Amino acid sequence: MNSAVANLVQIMQQTGHRDISNHDDAFLLQSLKRRQEIVQTPDLSAFLQTLEQNETERVAFLMSLENNYTEFFRMGYVFSCLEHQILPGLVAKLSPASELRIWSAGCSTGQEPYSLAILLENIAEKLRNEFRYRIIATDISDSALNTARNGVYTEEAVQNLRLKDLSTYFKLDRDGYAVTNRLKKHVSFSRYDLFDPLSANPSESIFGNFDLVLCSNVLLYYNERAQQFILKKLINATVVDGYLITSEAERAITKRSAGICPVYPPSPIFKKTFEVQHEAE
Ligand SMILES: C[S@@+](CC[C@H](N)C(=O)[O-])C[C@H]1O[C@@H](n2cnc3c(N)ncnc32)[C@H](O)[C@@H]1O
Repeated sequence: MNSAVANLVQIMQQTGHRDISNHDDAFLLQSLKRRQEIVQTPDLSAFLQTLEQNETERVAFLMSLENNYTEFFRMGYVFSCLEHQILPGLVAKLSPASELRIWSAGCSTGQEPYSLAILLENIAEKLRNEFRYRIIATDISDSALNTARNGVYTEEAVQNLRLKDLSTYFKLDRDGYAVTNRLKKHVSFSRYDLFDPLSANPSESIFGNFDLVLCSNVLLYYNERAQQFILKKLINATVVDGYLITSEAERAITKRSAGICPVYPPSPIFKKTFEVQHEAE
């Protein structure tokens, strides 16, 4: 670990803040440099001293590590595969009594799970057949989750949506474009830290067993050990023959995991091929 980063991790620990040792070293160093420039201290060691002495700056620094950026139908190719291949295939395998189970891990402000719900509603309409599905959407950020539950988006946020989907699943009111109950009733949002050592999956899902798990643009902020921890958890929570999706930038690290194989290369879409007995961390 870089010495400035080691110092930073220690300062946060000693001042009672959360453990940031899971973060990627290069990401922490870049964040340190950016904050150092903003507060105009001469160099990194002077900035580390500021961090040691100033609680407001420690909080500001920790906030600078948060990235909640997301979009509806982010990763066009992945969503196209979901729309035309993966979701219709999963729906076709459902028995009348069963339910399609999806986990959107690191869902941020909700655009990803709502995009999935739009595709599933469209499939149900096309098939003229209702089926049961449930999307469990989790994140570590309470403010992102509040926005997601509220489900009201700006004009800029909805620009990736097809006009038909926008008019079918959103209602324009004075606060913005509000997701209608037709989607909302299938998506439940809850706080879940992917590093939680005590639970294998969000408590709302009870036993995991997801047919599809999406965790995109989350791994890349963490170091390799932490990435492996999260990936094992995600793969354990996926049923055999189910799918795991990360992002283009996370494809290489995901690919190295046991129990999954890539489908639709070069996309970050993987299928679980066998159950791996992962040792407890
Ligand atoms: C950049 S956003 C990506 C959102 C969405 N998955 C996408 O690809 O558009 C990353 C999200 O991961 C969440 N996150 C980061 N670390 C997490 C953790 N340990 N457990 C759960 N969520 C986490 C952040 O709060 C943030 O909302």
